[in-house]
Amino acid sequence: MATSSELEATVKALVQKGRGILAADESGPTIAKRFKTIGVESTEDNRRAYRGLLLSTPDLGQHVSGVILYEETLGQRADDGEPLPQLAARQGIVPGIKVDAGKIPLALAPGDEITLGLDGLAQRLQGYKQQGARFAKWRAVYNVSGTLPSRAAIEANAEALARYAAVCQELGVVPIVEPEVLIDGDHTIARCAEVTQEVLHEVFHALHRHHVVLEHMLLKPSMVVPGKTHARQSTPAEVAELTLRVLRRSVPAAVPSINFLSGGQSPAEATANLDALNRLGPQPWNLSFSYGRALQDPALQAWQGKSDQARQAQDALRKRARLNGAASEGKYDAAMETAEPR
Ligand code: 13P
Repeated sequence: MATSSELEATVKALVQKGRGILAADESGPTIAKRFKTIGVESTEDNRRAYRGLLLSTPDLGQHVSGVILYEETLGQRADDGEPLPQLAARQGIVPGIKVDAGKIPLALAPGDEITLGLDGLAQRLQGYKQQGARFAKWRAVYNVSGTLPSRAAIEANAEALARYAAVCQELGVVPIVEPEVLIDGDHTIARCAEVTQEVLHEVFHALHRHHVVLEHMLLKPSMVVPGKTHARQSTPAEVAELTLRVLRRSVPAAVPSINFLSGGQSPAEATANLDALNRLGPQPWNLSFSYGRALQDPALQAWQGKSDQARQAQDALRKRARLNGAASEGKYDAAMETAEPR
């Protein structure tokens, strides 16, 4: 298939009404941190069992169109021997892959970080594609304070995101471009809006410079929210209004879909905020989810590392997927949290 029709077909499979993306691409240290909260050791087999459980959730494909996997998962198999990416595809879920190599402090810029992973990216991507990955993800992070992120960090991360996206498109892999403005800190929602606007503006400038085709990518931003320890937290209506103001000012209408990360919001908050965003009327882009913790946390808690609790964990995941699917159409109601069957 020609590269552009391949990209188009993948975008079409990912961007569908009432569906979003499951982020299950935690790196080694991050999945170990998540498992620790339920007292489970992060062994290769426990990670395989957990991710196999998530992907084999009955009917998950109804509300999940894509899943972001970690490199290790691409090569793992379910109990019956089926490769995990193939299991996802059989559920109607497009397999994707996290390709960045994590972040380090940005030199001579205290408090700022830069994401690594461009060296050898094209070669790695070719291998991932052979294992079934059709889209990819690269996450840049921005710490917020009165002075952070610096101009240097905003420009360096935008450049890396754009170079990654260009490599992906050249190989027929749809890039998810993820600039995450962190929720940590006590900053106001206005400061988050200011930083997010600067970041997105620079990201799209770099994407243009690197000839990235906007129709063939997805944006995965953070929502505009106050810092986690700020004294006054915002309502979903406030989050939706400021998030949309920033997005409308900085994201071209050619981008087919914006799939938010949850970034430390609780599962119910992330769903209510997505719903409020979709209640503000039609926008140039589809607005959906690409949640990690907000989809997985209830499942992880239900599982507790016990194979005889796999069914409860799958029920919990399916419930969050269904509620977020409703929110992606502006049809969620908080009453569904208790009224809905799992
Ligand atoms: P969270 O929704 O837990 O923020 O994870 C999304 C993600 O993929 C972070 O890179």
